[in-house]
Amino acid sequence: MHGESAALLRTPVLDDGARLWRIAANSGVLDTNSSYAYLLWCRDFAATSAVVEIDGEVGGFVIGYLRPQQPGTFFVWQVAVDRAHRGRGLGVAMLGFLLDGLIEQGVSALETTVSPDNTASIAMFSALARRRGSLLTRRPLFDPGHFPDGHEPEHLFRIAPDQEVG
Ligand SMILES: CC(C)(COP(=O)(O)OP(=O)(O)OC[C@H]1O[C@@H](n2cnc3c(N)ncnc32)[C@H](O)[C@@H]1OP(=O)(O)O)[C@@H](O)C(=O)NCCC(=O)NCCS
Repeated sequence: MHGESAALLRTPVLDDGARLWRIAANSGVLDTNSSYAYLLWCRDFAATSAVVEIDGEVGGFVIGYLRPQQPGTFFVWQVAVDRAHRGRGLGVAMLGFLLDGLIEQGVSALETTVSPDNTASIAMFSALARRRGSLLTRRPLFDPGHFPDGHEPEHLFRIAPDQEVG
């Protein structure tokens, strides 16, 4: 990070919700959920979400939750880094920050879904698995027939210790 502003990783607060919505809307890739959804997430799911602050402004976020029927699995709903800050390790850093805290609470696996053509996202989750010495498995989850609006397919990525059974 030589020559670049320091990045602060932290848990989101309610006042970050509007900025998260804006980053998602500007990402050019993500489904933009309602602004209400991001406020709700910052209120109720802050413990499984993270933001990165650069020069006092939020420049990226991860929103996620623990799967209700499988609380040892952390599901990442969305990750985004503002275009100006991409490619300097912030995506992986936010995910690592969250995983480090959640592992202490008994979480052992991360899941997310990725569109097969999202090269940056695939590279980021592959890098995360590699750095943590974990296994990344993938399988189709939502196909175009599940969606009412011509949405692309979404593949389920699961990152877990390679000794995990099942
Ligand atoms: C996906 C995204 C969050 C990655 O954020 P980032 O901070 O730029 O990612 P990182 O710098 O942590 O990169 C992690 C790894 O992915 C690689 N990578 C990142 N962007 C890449 C790209 N466009 N093409 C190829 N590899 C890429 C990096 O080289 C790095 O791999 P390495 O450690 O082997 O060098 C960012 O591109 C983004 O916001 N995209 C739009 C939203 C989106 O698609 N989100 C994911 C779906 S929920």
